[in-house]
Amino acid sequence: HWTMEEFIGKEIARIRAICGSTGRVIGAVSGGVDSTVAAKLMHEAIGDRFHAIMVDNGVLRLNEGKQVHEMLNNDLGVNLTVVDASDLFLSRLDGIDDPEQKRKIIGNTFINVFEAEAAKIEAAAAEEAQNGDAQGEKKKGRVEWLLQGTLYPDVIESISFKGPSATIKTHHNVGGLLKDMKLKLIEPLRELFKDEVRALGRLLNIPAPLVQRHPFPGPGLAIRILGPVTREQVRILQQADAIYIEEIRRAGLYDQIAQAFAVLLPVRAVGVMGDKRTYEQVIALRAVQSEDFMTADWYVFPPEVLRRISSRITNEVAGVNRVTYDISSKPPATVEWL
Ligand code: XMP
Repeated sequence: HWTMEEFIGKEIARIRAICGSTGRVIGAVSGGVDSTVAAKLMHEAIGDRFHAIMVDNGVLRLNEGKQVHEMLNNDLGVNLTVVDASDLFLSRLDGIDDPEQKRKIIGNTFINVFEAEAAKIEAAAAEEAQNGDAQGEKKKGRVEWLLQGTLYPDVIESISFKGPSATIKTHHNVGGLLKDMKLKLIEPLRELFKDEVRALGRLLNIPAPLVQRHPFPGPGLAIRILGPVTREQVRILQQADAIYIEEIRRAGLYDQIAQAFAVLLPVRAVGVMGDKRTYEQVIALRAVQSEDFMTADWYVFPPEVLRRISSRITNEVAGVNRVTYDISSKPPATVEWL
């Protein structure tokens, strides 16, 4: 039996032994708990020889890129580059309706952008090494390692069988896509469960709101826009989702819910505004309680919270005149709609 303090000490020593005194590590961060905790641990171990890369794919939650930047860079001191690739992603996604297609485009584009950024870091590191004169200095600064935020359940799932969700729809997440890069993997969380990662995060002084953050899928809002992805649809969903989460936090319910998000339905509904008919879009709200996301129950909100959320969304988000609440559990539904 070990304590989390012992784990930190042991893992930092292991990372330092692996990387030696010169090796560099790169890793993708998403703003989620796992990649943030992994990044902070790397920073504790090897400081700025760890380079975090965040790719803004244009289908993040509202202002997420900016928030993650502030938190990782300013609050946690992690050496982070945010790559704003939203134009590239959104142009490739424009008009795409099929969910697997959306996942594929986002996955492939993510790899393109990440590899290009990794190459820049490598080139800058090589130049630094050039400036050192001793022969031994030539090797200094090579990027040899890729950080992965893999958890124990991911390890189990990939060695034993493909979980039910993997066979029904492909789950693309940021880390798994990069396995084919010619880099060796470093996986400091591979022995931990989610609740242990949260405990580790608290010990590493990662702010509580971040440690408790709801999960967010790699393909982001693209799989929550049920029809074709367009910039306008992204705008609508970002605004509705931000209001929803803000009201959940304001009501003090955020930590009771495992995951909450808004979905943009591919239908238009009739409404009335003043003395005119409107014909606008529909938002579905989803909130679930779950231990491991293999099963999930829909969350029972106090009615007045739903009332406030609905009235704010229909009042504040141009293009939406109707809000519905999803009362499906998993199974038979899944958490996401696509
Ligand atoms: P489902 O919809 O399968 O979701 O019940 C279970 C959990 O997985 C997340 N999810 C994804 N995460 N890429 C991800 O990184 C994906 O393509 C993806 N699809 C679903 C979902 O948000 C929930 O937490």
